[in-house]
Amino acid sequence: MTIGGTQAYGEASYWDRRYTQDQSPFDWYQNYSALSPLLNLYLSPSNRLLVVGCGNSAFSEGMANDGYEDIVNIDISSVVIEAMQKKYSNSSKLTYITMDVRNMSAFQTGSFDAVIDKGTLDSILCGDNSKQNSSMMLEEVRRVLKDNGVYILITYGVPAFRLDLLRNAGNWNIKLHIIEKIVTGVRYEGQRKWELTNPFPLDEDGKSLEDVFGKNPDIHYIYVCTKETCI
Ligand SMILES: C[S@@+](CC[C@H](N)C(=O)[O-])C[C@H]1O[C@@H](n2cnc3c(N)ncnc32)[C@H](O)[C@@H]1O
Repeated sequence: MTIGGTQAYGEASYWDRRYTQDQSPFDWYQNYSALSPLLNLYLSPSNRLLVVGCGNSAFSEGMANDGYEDIVNIDISSVVIEAMQKKYSNSSKLTYITMDVRNMSAFQTGSFDAVIDKGTLDSILCGDNSKQNSSMMLEEVRRVLKDNGVYILITYGVPAFRLDLLRNAGNWNIKLHIIEKIVTGVRYEGQRKWELTNPFPLDEDGKSLEDVFGKNPDIHYIYVCTKETCI
């Protein structure tokens, strides 16, 4: 499934309706097992983690099963959060809270080691007032992170459409990772052109990406942004 067009992906009402109609768990873009080697590189089991726009994906369950101990999940849709609270009521590692990522005032400044975003900035960018909403979101993400904490953004957005957005939100050290898309449930095995855990050289015009993957490649981009503070 891809995000595109002008649907109201930034609206709680759109997501409430969608999660009411279809309650089966769904992971956008990639699942936990595909991304775990990369997450394990940047995160530690004792980290306090925040998953923004968690939806009903099994991603956080995968992390908990892998040993991550404190995973706070938020979503703007109360429908999906209530379902997830019920589903994981016995898990001491997983917390689910209805919250708008643009206003996380319930969380203290500098209270998370990492923020994980799979498809939520993308949704906001597809909604109305995308510029204002995305900068509110990124400002909040940055605020709740500790110094040297990481924002891990998993997206379909190419560097030309994501780097400026990120840089405008503050001083980050940004690393880019690449993963092939899963096509009809099967990854393009044998066609892996770049190792997931190896950062891809960042260039602004995407020339190096095109050299390796060709035009319009079937890949997802993972921006690992470390919060740096000016001295
Ligand atoms: C594309 S889905 C991704 C869901 C999940 N992260 C995944 O990877 O399967 C985007 C999610 O962001 C949530 N969302 C959209 N706008 C939001 C906002 N302002 N604050 C919090 N969550 C939001 C939606 O309810 C939806 O669950």
